[in-house]
Amino acid sequence: MTLSGKRILLVISGGIAAYKSLDLIRRLRERGASVRCILTAGAQEFITPLAAASISGQRAHTNLFDREDEADIGHIRLARDADLIVVAPATANLMAKMAGGHADDLASTVLLATTLPILIAPAMNVRMWQHAATQRNLATLKADGVRVVGPNDGAMAEAEFGPGRMSEPLEIVAAVESLLAPKGPLAGRHVLVTAGPTHEPIDPVRYIANRSSGKQGYAIARAAAEAGANVTLVAGPTALPDPVGVSIVHVESAREMLAAVEKAMPADIGIFTAAVADWRVASAATEKMKKMRDVPAALPLVENPDILATIAHLKAGRPAIVVGFAAETEKVIDHAREKLARKGSDLIVANDVSAESGVMGGDSNTVHLISTSGIETWPLLDKSEVARRLIERLGAMIASKQS
Ligand code: CTP
Repeated sequence: MTLSGKRILLVISGGIAAYKSLDLIRRLRERGASVRCILTAGAQEFITPLAAASISGQRAHTNLFDREDEADIGHIRLARDADLIVVAPATANLMAKMAGGHADDLASTVLLATTLPILIAPAMNVRMWQHAATQRNLATLKADGVRVVGPNDGAMAEAEFGPGRMSEPLEIVAAVESLLAPKGPLAGRHVLVTAGPTHEPIDPVRYIANRSSGKQGYAIARAAAEAGANVTLVAGPTALPDPVGVSIVHVESAREMLAAVEKAMPADIGIFTAAVADWRVASAATEKMKKMRDVPAALPLVENPDILATIAHLKAGRPAIVVGFAAETEKVIDHAREKLARKGSDLIVANDVSAESGVMGGDSNTVHLISTSGIETWPLLDKSEVARRLIERLGAMIASKQS
């Protein structure tokens, strides 16, 4: 009974996948959840409120202006009296309404009036899914904190193939469980990860940057979420999509990164993978510098705050485990050992980022784990495998520390 006592408001919108929602209700109830349904007008073309009510064991709601509905439980209470709202299927139209903040029926009004977490399971024709408007709406919804499961690739009702099929009921159940009842070695832990490069402005259009892609840090954030952790990822500018199931804070400069990290504290584990710029321009110009007029004779730099060292040296509220990364191009182990001591971290993950290693921007990595108890070298691994193994190791470390 993984969802015992959890209350789910299921919004069913109008698509052929609505028939799968009846199975979803059953699967959620089998795990101990109570399910209350809202059906849009479109949904009622595919399934009836009576079917949803019989399977959920509760009245199904359909109409914003229905006197009986409002007397039973008003739409504002519908938007509050649950632990999670699941929208399955989420049609292109309902996603557009959510992204735009429309409230012209019961479902969209409840979705606008709520502060509950929302999970959507999109389902639509492949061309509708791929349309720039839908992708724009999806990005808006994600930025608003809406979680997304699917869609899957597969054959569609219209004899086309591609992404757009709603996730299977059990996949949606798994997404609900990971939101409401996380399992895994890091369940209940807050893991803070920094990733990517930082951009240090020279003027409003120019900046100093580095070659970090953010891939290793993003993979670690994903692995920590898969291990059940509540993850905050503070990311400098990267070209990567936001990982699912992770709270992401986008920043540009080192100082913004430090502020975001401090705001996200406290954490049980801090993993500092970001390639933070060591220096910033002492006084960035507020207007664009003109080529002929503002030729800088030199660009004076000042040191940036060291985020890892700041957090690792906290007197109060220090994470139980602090992990740093060391990107080196020579004497990898010597430099990493020195950083372990200087930064005050419990572990340094060192890697060789010389041009010939291909690590910067690449998909794999050879790392050395350096702690006061010794050095361990892992073979060349995919960055996602490095992440998975590191998270497994940290799970064991935190369990042994607190036992
Ligand atoms: N780091 C940080 N804030 C900084 C600089 C580094 O949090 N301003 C963190 C990185 O995220 C990484 C670790 O410190 O986990 C080591 O970063 P690195 O750039 O290798 O170390 P530096 O202190 O910059 O040392 P050096 O330039 O001498 O290599």
